[in-house]
Amino acid sequence: MTSTKFLPADYTQNLSSTSFSYASPSNIALIKYWGKQGIQIPKNPSISFTLDTCRTTTTLHFEKRDNHKENFEVKVILDGKHKPGFEAKIHQFFSRILQYMPFVKEYKFIVETTNSFPHSSGIASSASGFSAIALCLMEMEREMQPGLTDTYFTQKASFIARLGSGSGCRSLEGPLVVWGEHSEIEGSSDIYGVSYPYEVHENFRDFQDAILLVDQGEKQVSSTVGHNLMHNHPYAESRFNQAHENLAKLIPILKNGDLDSFIHIVESEALTLHAMMLTSSPYFILMKSNTLKIIEKIWEYRRETGIPLCFTLDAGANVHVLFPKNYKNEVQDFIKSSLSEYCQNNRYIFDSVGTGAIKL
Ligand code: DP6
Repeated sequence: MTSTKFLPADYTQNLSSTSFSYASPSNIALIKYWGKQGIQIPKNPSISFTLDTCRTTTTLHFEKRDNHKENFEVKVILDGKHKPGFEAKIHQFFSRILQYMPFVKEYKFIVETTNSFPHSSGIASSASGFSAIALCLMEMEREMQPGLTDTYFTQKASFIARLGSGSGCRSLEGPLVVWGEHSEIEGSSDIYGVSYPYEVHENFRDFQDAILLVDQGEKQVSSTVGHNLMHNHPYAESRFNQAHENLAKLIPILKNGDLDSFIHIVESEALTLHAMMLTSSPYFILMKSNTLKIIEKIWEYRRETGIPLCFTLDAGANVHVLFPKNYKNEVQDFIKSSLSEYCQNNRYIFDSVGTGAIKL
């Protein structure tokens, strides 16, 4: 797959707009992306559910600069407050996308952003955040180059989001998005996410995700550092192969609605992700004791009730509890009565699978 198709043609129109806004969702991976090479090329394919209410809403304001200086000009405002700390990340992002969107040098930008989920909830906002910025930038490009197809628009937006944060390329569409080439998934690509192209059983429609906020502090080890530790990791190659195999196994499961097999793969993926952290050099642990307590409680509840709920984890201590919509009342009651005590300040978020980013 080549990136050249995302090099811009000559822009034929001037911009008359001064801002664009998008609300982009977060996503939760079922098959995990952990390990990358070059600039944001994943070492294995991944698939995620797009979330619904956990979102980043971003307005990108722009104004032509008189003369282009060497540096980019970006100001980041989060929840109404200027956050110079985030600007270096956007500068790095802009330098990565410059050849695909040369106009980023010609404008000064204000990125005004808010998250629907609480600050310091441990929920990463980078995926939803970069998805929203990428979509706003694509709106600029579409205005300067009318006639872009919707497919190109979405693919390039995902491609651009990936250069900000890998998992961000899975935060544009829904309900299931694949990123990374897989021999059995037509159209899958290492450089952008695609909507899962095959049949999905109604058991997985409107799936629920309850996010249990176990630890709302800053992570001791960032995802970037964690990804890098997969270089020279003794188990890396078998892990990457396993992700390919697990994704292949998931295709018939998603079609036939086999919840037991789904649970087996999803929980195994979560534990393998953390096993990679435990066996990195240097090794590290992102789970907390309450993460394990919650996992045990989920297993006990599943054994006792037969309700097909399962957990997954991202690169942190929080637990995502996934379950079919028809068990919503029982599982929400169980979370309130038996799991919320393991959450920091009893905090959790009830979300569900969603359909993707919204232009505002
Ligand atoms: C554990 O997408 O946050 O959530 O590409 O460095 O921005 P960067 O990493 P990021 O990694 C996400 C890792 C994960 C698994 C997943 O979402 O697939």
